[in-house]
Amino acid sequence: MSQSLRDARRWEEAHAVIPEERPLFHLSARTGWMNDPNGFSFHDGRYHLFYQYHPYDSHWGPMHWGHAVSADLLRWEYLPAAMAPDMPYDRDGVFSGSALTLPDGRHLLMYTGVAKAVGEDGALRDVQTQNLAFGDGVNYVKYERNPVITAADLPEGGSPHDFRDPKIWATADGYRAIVANDHPGHGGRMLIYRSPDLEHWSLETVLAENERRLGLMWECPDLFELDGRTVLLASAQDMLPQGFEYHNGNGTFCMLGSIDPETGWFVEGSNHAVDYGIDFYAPQTVVTPDGRRVMIGWMQNWDTCNLHTPSTPWFGQMSLPRELSVKNGRLYQRPIRELEQLRRDAVAYDHVALKDGEISLPGIEGRALDIELEVAPAGELYNRFAIRFAKDATYHTGVSFRPRESVLKVDRKFSGSRRAIIHQRRAKVDHRDGRLRLRLILDRFSVEVFVGDGEKVMSATLNTDLSARGVTFFADGAVEMNVRCWKLGD
Ligand code: FRU
Repeated sequence: MSQSLRDARRWEEAHAVIPEERPLFHLSARTGWMNDPNGFSFHDGRYHLFYQYHPYDSHWGPMHWGHAVSADLLRWEYLPAAMAPDMPYDRDGVFSGSALTLPDGRHLLMYTGVAKAVGEDGALRDVQTQNLAFGDGVNYVKYERNPVITAADLPEGGSPHDFRDPKIWATADGYRAIVANDHPGHGGRMLIYRSPDLEHWSLETVLAENERRLGLMWECPDLFELDGRTVLLASAQDMLPQGFEYHNGNGTFCMLGSIDPETGWFVEGSNHAVDYGIDFYAPQTVVTPDGRRVMIGWMQNWDTCNLHTPSTPWFGQMSLPRELSVKNGRLYQRPIRELEQLRRDAVAYDHVALKDGEISLPGIEGRALDIELEVAPAGELYNRFAIRFAKDATYHTGVSFRPRESVLKVDRKFSGSRRAIIHQRRAKVDHRDGRLRLRLILDRFSVEVFVGDGEKVMSATLNTDLSARGVTFFADGAVEMNVRCWKLGD
């Protein structure tokens, strides 16, 4: 084991954040900084989730891979950091990648190594290559023949500086990996590489080209079949908003389509944002032993995420694991069903009338909650309905709905932020004459709002002091509500 990895393991043991100060069931950095989920896999009887990790500071820095395991994707146990930037080809960062169980039982990691080099123009720039590491689920050894995919394997015009985030899978004839690459002047594209033996890789096809439609560079691809469609998930940098889509600057899109068997090209049917809130990026999926496709993303936004004080003990958390399906030309997401095992202290209210005011309901308060809500007009169509939470005299965060505009809004302006960053996000939602169904999951420092059957999701992190525990319901006009609420935790 390298000295850098030994140092990182010692540091994280000594500086581990205590459970009381972190989210309950969303994975956060063991200490320091976390970004993308990596190597999301089911290996040797449990789920493994690695993450982009800078243990020494709560800001981004030389990337390591942090590591955690879980039986249910909610109760996580930290394992020692899996990789450090300690080889000539990854000395400036062990960037994102994926994992696979090999036929001989070893756990394979495939990742991007970053090493700065002076180019022909004399400038010092990142060079990104694809690499392997083999392990037993705790300790990993980098492959002696790394890197396995380099600039020499790029198609015409591909940038060696933006060439990253391999997602690997096994096929009947070996392995495939989808890798993101910048094609300067055109934006990101997705490349598929093939290998019979993991050591020799060759370019199979250019799967999809951005042509500057959806942001510039594309990152963190995932490609899978679901409900009869081919799904391409990727995160785009520098997006322009389009109507109510893609308001996040850097945001994750879903493309639904099919693969043309002749050309190997992805034939695109439609695309839409994966999350309509403020904080969501770089998701990966795994298939559970019972066949569900589950996605986890980094619950943050690159534009707003480096503004906290350096002394914060941790920064960055994952989203809730979400079960995916494709319906009505969209990607649907639901909280994984295992979450129901964490439900405690059920309360239920039916046909609660609320008119021009704000109320709280006995038993509904706290910072780790699962709230199912149905709202409907009582008579004439109301103007606005809102649920507010993480609330006390100073703070609250709200989710509000204006049926006349069909707009659902998450607003964390009063959540305790002292920065002029984005605090609101709006999404268009479907409803029947003001009837709307929502499920809100709160976990101390976040809210995730699932609309209807999961056709849209809005996620946002909040920095609110944990003593703000109130929940209220507000109406401008007259509504009737059905509310179910559970506290979440063991
Ligand atoms: C996406 C990303 C990846 C890269 C990693 C570096 O959030 O930029 O493309 O591998 O973060 O930490």
